[in-house]
Amino acid sequence: MARPGGRWLSGRHEWTERPLAISTGRVALPLARRGITVEGIEGSPLMLEQLRARAGGADIPVVLGDMADVAVDGPYDLAYLVFNTFFNLPDQDRQVDCFVNVGRVLAPGGRFVVEAFIQDLTEFDRNQRVTTRAIDEDSVSMEFLQHDPVAQAVTYQRVTFDAAGTTLRPLGLRYCWPSELDLMARLAGMRLRERWDFWDRTPVHRRQPSPRLGLRAGPGGYGRRMTEPTHLVTATMRQEPGEGLRHPQAYLFARKP
Ligand SMILES: C[S@@+](CC[C@H](N)C(=O)[O-])C[C@H]1O[C@@H](n2cnc3c(N)ncnc32)[C@H](O)[C@@H]1O
Repeated sequence: MARPGGRWLSGRHEWTERPLAISTGRVALPLARRGITVEGIEGSPLMLEQLRARAGGADIPVVLGDMADVAVDGPYDLAYLVFNTFFNLPDQDRQVDCFVNVGRVLAPGGRFVVEAFIQDLTEFDRNQRVTTRAIDEDSVSMEFLQHDPVAQAVTYQRVTFDAAGTTLRPLGLRYCWPSELDLMARLAGMRLRERWDFWDRTPVHRRQPSPRLGLRAGPGGYGRRMTEPTHLVTATMRQEPGEGLRHPQAYLFARKP
């Protein structure tokens, strides 16, 4: 989150920001290296340990806790939550809590940037999917998936069968529709300012399929002054096999003055 009076991500370094779910610092560390003061929130002590072990990672103040309700000091000008991490919150209640928690500490007019995707329902066949992710003579790696269309929940098991036996890697997410995110923002005293299909200001639904997207601000603020991509953008271009099917979006919410 950024303190009042700071500038947006413009290459000028007189602001502080607090990413939610800072993880190992994929975005935060490059920003810190540019001289931007970064503070974070992270829910996993293990991830925090990995951040601390990276060059510059020990210098970033991080609050350990759940981003849906962890207490942090405000007010801030900017909070961001990228890489679909909002969908890690397990249900609608916790997702609303997260918006409210951010809205609570944003300065009037402060911004909340969310990077997420739009779930492609054609990925599922009768609310299921089984995919072979990798196969060779000695092993096979598969993904088993179930979709609950009421809870908007997707439960995965990534399974590897090899000489060592069976390895399970469970994963779950609760996706939101864009309209639902807009409504959560309203519940938290925010409103949608901008919605983009990519970091380069591509309008929504003009380009697909595409990899995950991002959003950045120009010197004059978000939206109309969106400028060329930066490392923040390129850092969001990581794409897993199959993810191109999803239609990604970025959202900018502003707290009401
Ligand atoms: C997919 S990673 C994304 C990390 C980072 N936002 C990025 O873009 O690289 C998810 C991270 O969010 C953290 N996380 C998940 N749920 C969380 C929660 N409720 N509160 C705080 N951190 C959470 C995880 O521990 C993990 O480090």
